[in-house]
Amino acid sequence: MSRDRDGTADAPTIQEKLPDPQRAPLRLSEFDLQDKVFVVTGGGRGLGLTLAEALVEAGAKVYCLDRLPEPDDEFRDVQTRLGPKYGGELLYDRIDVRQADDVDRVVARIAQRHGRMDGCVTAAAVQNVTPALDYPADKIMEMLDINYKGVYCTAVSCARQMIKYDCAGSILLVASMSGLVANRRLTSSVYNSSKAAVCQLSRSLAMEWAKIVNGKPIRVNALCPGNIITPMVLKNFEDDPKLKAAWEQGNMLGRLSHPHEYRGAALFALSDASSFMTGSQLVIDGGYTAW
Ligand SMILES: NC(=O)c1ccc[n+]([C@@H]2O[C@H](COP(=O)([O-])OP(=O)(O)OC[C@H]3O[C@@H](n4cnc5c(N)ncnc54)[C@H](O)[C@@H]3O)[C@@H](O)[C@H]2O)c1
Repeated sequence: MSRDRDGTADAPTIQEKLPDPQRAPLRLSEFDLQDKVFVVTGGGRGLGLTLAEALVEAGAKVYCLDRLPEPDDEFRDVQTRLGPKYGGELLYDRIDVRQADDVDRVVARIAQRHGRMDGCVTAAAVQNVTPALDYPADKIMEMLDINYKGVYCTAVSCARQMIKYDCAGSILLVASMSGLVANRRLTSSVYNSSKAAVCQLSRSLAMEWAKIVNGKPIRVNALCPGNIITPMVLKNFEDDPKLKAAWEQGNMLGRLSHPHEYRGAALFALSDASSFMTGSQLVIDGGYTAW
């Protein structure tokens, strides 16, 4: 015990206030995902894979669903690195999120295998950089099919299983800062609109599902990242070599981000640490949208 500022009463020290490690051996237990089951679309590479890895490290079994016939080499490396040491597991299923029935069937099969479903991250998306005046009309719905319908149907398939197995939980829809502002020098009007739609979808689903699991919630939030160095963005730099420097200057931190800088956000959003957060947008963009 220590003396209070006025010296009149004893106050507990910070060590005394912390949980007794004998009785509460797990630090920050609200972040623990032991035994939980999640799906991550677009988890074959890039941001989705990195977020999936974080969830496995916290103890979850994570199924990465992606249309790649085989996941990226990076996926195997992550799988090997994780091994069984965290109690979780990283698995892969090939799926095209445009095929709603397939998504429904695969998510149902995963839930049945484990007798539960605790949530998902929807990271599968594509981008197309074309000035609006040149954008072929028939390509508009093609992108929305993946970036909007794919997200919508994955969230619904996942929610169905969460309700069936009585699992309150959390869904994180990967949107983008491009859903909030026009991304400088990036002529991607359809992509940007698709991400704005995902932001709105998170609010609508959050409202519909706030008490859907026997009075308990399926929380739904959107993640709005800034520019991240992933295969998607490396392609943009190939097409426009001046883009990298322009983007670096576009945010307050003067650099691009890396997928690992979103790990904490995924863990926060999918765990009980965010139990009072739903219908929100986690904007992580180096200050891009703040000035
Ligand atoms: N990279 C960035 O700067 C950035 C910024 C903000 C938001 N995002 C978002 O983050 C998410 C991940 O992007 P990324 O940069 O890692 O891109 P990426 O292209 O590296 O990864 C996207 C993954 O989605 C998969 N995918 C695409 N269409 C699919 C379909 N129909 N069915 C199943 N899987 C499909 C791809 O195969 C790929 O593995 C996307 O939603 C993207 O819009 C990225």
